[in-house]
Amino acid sequence: MAGKAFEPPLARIREFVKSHGLPSGHDAGLLAAGLGMPAARLRGVASYFADQLQAPAGEVCAGTSCMLCGGKELHDAMQRRGASYRRVYCLGYCDRSPALLDSTRRPRFRGSAYCFASGGEGSGDPVLPDIRCHARMPVVTRRIGRGGAATLAAARESGAYEILARALKGSPAEVLAAMDHAGERGRGGAGFPTGKKWRSCAETPADRRYVIANGDEGDPGSFIDRVLMEADPHGVIEGMLLCGYAVGAAEGIVFVRSEYPQALAVMQAAVAEARNAGCIGTNILGSGFDFEITVIQGMGSYVCGEETALINALEGKRGEVRIRPPYPTEEGLHGCPTVINNVETLVNVPFIVADGGESYAALGSPGSKGTKALSLNRGFVRPGIVEVEFGTSLRQVIEDFGGGGRDGKPLAAVLLGGPMGNVLTPAEWDVPVCYEAMRARGIELGHGGLVAVPEDADFRALLEHWIRFMVDESCGKCVPCRLGSQCAANALNAGTSESTTRARLDELFAAMEQGSLCAFGRSIPRPMRQLVANFRDRIFGNPAGS
Ligand SMILES: Cc1cc2nc3c(=O)[nH]c(=O)nc-3n(C[C@H](O)[C@H](O)[C@H](O)COP(=O)(O)O)c2cc1C
Ligand code: SF4
Ligand code: FES
Repeated sequence: MAGKAFEPPLARIREFVKSHGLPSGHDAGLLAAGLGMPAARLRGVASYFADQLQAPAGEVCAGTSCMLCGGKELHDAMQRRGASYRRVYCLGYCDRSPALLDSTRRPRFRGSAYCFASGGEGSGDPVLPDIRCHARMPVVTRRIGRGGAATLAAARESGAYEILARALKGSPAEVLAAMDHAGERGRGGAGFPTGKKWRSCAETPADRRYVIANGDEGDPGSFIDRVLMEADPHGVIEGMLLCGYAVGAAEGIVFVRSEYPQALAVMQAAVAEARNAGCIGTNILGSGFDFEITVIQGMGSYVCGEETALINALEGKRGEVRIRPPYPTEEGLHGCPTVINNVETLVNVPFIVADGGESYAALGSPGSKGTKALSLNRGFVRPGIVEVEFGTSLRQVIEDFGGGGRDGKPLAAVLLGGPMGNVLTPAEWDVPVCYEAMRARGIELGHGGLVAVPEDADFRALLEHWIRFMVDESCGKCVPCRLGSQCAANALNAGTSESTTRARLDELFAAMEQGSLCAFGRSIPRPMRQLVANFRDRIFGNPAGS
């Protein structure tokens, strides 16, 4: 089937709001009719997404890394300046926290960010973070570790689309077999086997299938996908093309979070270049395989990174989570079988397919093959991205590769895996970085972001920050999470005794863990429980505890 460009209702709604504000009355009726949806649904969608608000004078990061690295001073400076600005959770520059996007959506970090917030100009040209590989061979950082390859010419110098060309001469079954043999597990958090996911999609009878690259990377502290999209966009595209060929799809979508304007621009340019070169479109590289790719900008919602919420957003609905099953590989975008893979998962694919999965399977641990890119925030002596083989000790990552806490400050803990991850104190750092050993200890690797928490951190502020994140980002679909998050915020601010506050938080967290529809509500209490358990005195300031 010939590929065709996907037309997202979100883009039209966004354009409308930019020029006219939130749709109401007659306008809403006209726009809704044009999009083929009821006006009430249109209003629901438009008001759901934070990005629908008018463009402000700046977007200041309120993510965990920036919060711990001077973000408050940045917010205070913006307030003194009197400019309207938006708080956003993570801009993907956690290695240089605190960060903001200025009124032209240019990123600025630290000195340059403070300068802008104080009314100055300054420059904030983005550069790649420090990238190091400690695996026997680089997989995911194979291009970004060498300064990046955003253009097609640069990517071709390091072999882009050669593996695709070879694969297209063989059968889709061979690509599927390579994925099975490699044993790759998805990097979006759940660690689901990629080969199994692709096979499920390929085997579901359908006339049309989709491939979606999930570039919504919302975990504060993670910036791997941003760097991959900006510095190896052709790696993402080639991975999608190989997936499309393997599962029999003709349409692909790259969903890029709106907080990543640079990644969006680079991905769009790369898709256009690849199309002009015959790598996307009809009869790709003369093989008879057709595949079209569209790049779509997200709308500023953390939960839209969850696969079913992402599909809802693409279909022009509120970005709320759907009940699973059916899983997207059976019933995904527009009811068609759909593979959704994380950006990092896809960048590994050409490397895997190159030799039938052999080299990849030789790396890593028994249950977690290959390598993992981890991102270290500015709280470490050596922030940036480190690629390690699965099985490497977390302590080695923190102390040797990251160099420990910045400015000689001992670390009280690290936050691993974003807001649905963990608070790990030094006693817990001897765990190997891999899905099986971590899960056996109740630890989620998540997306592999590491945020350093120094001994002198404000732990009360950290807990308040976490709860506010939960309130701001809950999609609101289910009661335990929607109400539980707000009630937790109220409980913390109620001024009751420590024991009453802790008992109330316990009760609310238990309700969320047991009754929430998706991993957001089910998992976000875990790190907060760990924070309270480990740093109770520092949070409540009451060692006697009552
Ligand atoms: C609240 C929530 C947010 C998520 N955000 C992301 C995200 O930003 N990026 C991502 O790849 N996966 C995210 N996921 C996981 C996706 O639902 C999905 O499992 C993943 O994209 C599948 O890709 P993979 O198999 O390559 O890991 C999120 C899940 C939840 C519950
Ligand atoms: S747990 Fe939270 S984020 Fe997930 S569906 Fe329920 S309200 Fe939405
Ligand atoms: S850039 Fe601020 S938390 Fe990531």
